[in-house]
Amino acid sequence: MAARLNPTAKKLIRQSRNKKDALIPLLQDIQAIYGYVPSEAVDLIAKELSIFPVEIYGILTFYTQFYLTARGRYTIKVCQGTACHVMGGKEILDYLSDKLGIRKGETTPDGMFSLERVACLGCCGMAPVIVVGSDFYGRCSIQKIDELLDKYRSKRAKKVK
Ligand code: FES
Repeated sequence: MAARLNPTAKKLIRQSRNKKDALIPLLQDIQAIYGYVPSEAVDLIAKELSIFPVEIYGILTFYTQFYLTARGRYTIKVCQGTACHVMGGKEILDYLSDKLGIRKGETTPDGMFSLERVACLGCCGMAPVIVVGSDFYGRCSIQKIDELLDKYRSKRAKKVK
């Protein structure tokens, strides 16, 4: 669904009028608001900064920090660095992909989880490693995955009540 830009986003973009140097920080700010950069934001940024939308999409697709679609409530990052790969990181990624019914870069239809593969997270001694939202899990196993998914689903259920 298309995101309608909120007043904060519009104000941020208009404050950067004709400041091409502000493009990347501006995209970061927009993503901080929405969790991704909506196409409506790209259109307004292009207009205000006098650049072509295709240039903005070039940046958005070049830098892995940016997303063009809405992210799940929790992004699951599965480390695929060498140590994690050797210790079963690939099997964990495949299992999550099957279990959630999504591939890397995608989000579950209920908006709960997005799945990503990432390079070394810098804690190889804890391999294999995954990160769910901002929570880190070392020495992960396929057996732990179901428990983790249930944990985050029940967190959401409690918040909804
Ligand atoms: S390879 Fe996974 S943390 Fe280094």
